[in-house]
Amino acid sequence: MTEVSIRTATLRVRRGAPGEAPHYADFAVPYEDGMSVLDALRWIRVHLDSTLAIRYSCINANACKTCMALVNGEVEYTCIAKLTPEVTTVEPLPKRPLIRDLVTDILSDEEKL
Ligand code: FES
Repeated sequence: MTEVSIRTATLRVRRGAPGEAPHYADFAVPYEDGMSVLDALRWIRVHLDSTLAIRYSCINANACKTCMALVNGEVEYTCIAKLTPEVTTVEPLPKRPLIRDLVTDILSDEEKL
């Protein structure tokens, strides 16, 4: 009998909405080589917490530019940022107005009518 070991990664996600005290939630996610941070966030929404607010559109095509967040303190597209089998911290963009969790208002003032 062959034993299959499942590796896990931890995503530490900053949660909260404007007017709330932000907090960090840790999620254990099955890890496979080549996974993106967005793959892990989508897995969390499907399997652990459907209330986690994230934004994406094109999924791994790096075309829509809507999935940006801070990944370990750096601005990244979560769809191309590679997940590592350690702790990865994901936070909303710090210079954009927060909507909830990882979703920020990314529209420029000219685009808001
Ligand atoms: S999901 Fe479209 S650029 Fe990341």
